[in-house]
Amino acid sequence: MFLASRVYMKDLVQLSVGAAAAGGLLYREHSMRTRAERLSAATLEALLNAIDANDATTGAHVRRVATYALILGEAAGLDEHTLHSIERVALFHDIGKLHEALTDIFHDPAKLTPEERRAVMTHPQRGADVLAPLAPFFPDLPKGVAAHHERWDGTGYPRGLKGRRIPLVARVVAIADSFDAITHRRRYSHARSFSEAMRAIKEGRGTQFDPDLVDVFLSPPVRAKIEKAMRKANMPHRKQSNRRRGEAQPAPDITFRWRPRSRGSRARDPQT
Ligand SMILES: [Fe+2]
Repeated sequence: MFLASRVYMKDLVQLSVGAAAAGGLLYREHSMRTRAERLSAATLEALLNAIDANDATTGAHVRRVATYALILGEAAGLDEHTLHSIERVALFHDIGKLHEALTDIFHDPAKLTPEERRAVMTHPQRGADVLAPLAPFFPDLPKGVAAHHERWDGTGYPRGLKGRRIPLVARVVAIADSFDAITHRRRYSHARSFSEAMRAIKEGRGTQFDPDLVDVFLSPPVRAKIEKAMRKANMPHRKQSNRRRGEAQPAPDITFRWRPRSRGSRARDPQT
């Protein structure tokens, strides 16, 4: 009896030690995964800061595009993984414009020459090339960026992809990108109203844009959300409290979901 209870105690101790070790391993694995996620978010955040530093107008544009693209993606019922891809593609879709060969062209108010137009059309592939080292971690990112000027009818660039051959993330971002371009002043056109922009998106249904996604974009609840987001984005920005001199920047959201005036707060699950 005494022996049996000693064996039992020994088993119990071994079991406890084993469970503690397994628990420790799990905890370590979890914290390493969390750290890796935070590192990847911080890397992308740093890349976004580089865009801001180089061209604040593009930095503001890509954030608005990300906001609109996420509204569209959520309304289309896309899963969380795809929404994260959409966000990344939206935030970095124009990174190719920062290429040395294109910077002067993009900042020159004169009308584009045919040669300059051809050069501008290289920016999706230049962006994909910049982002290529991230492909093993985010395969949709360079592909989506390369395809953001493709058109549903196959007349876009750089590859003339048609219909569903265009990556879904690029089809979502293309609508958000065009909407933002229309509602903001560009080299040869004034900013147009929300209604005019919606009309232009409708006109591109089935030619420039994925018709199903356009239907979602034009649906009353999505229209309302986009209009609200547009008004909010166009409001003058207040200085963020964490930008005060001497204060450290908060750690970025681990989901890398960009939200105006709430950087550093915990990320909301896109599905909730
Ligand atoms: Fe672009």
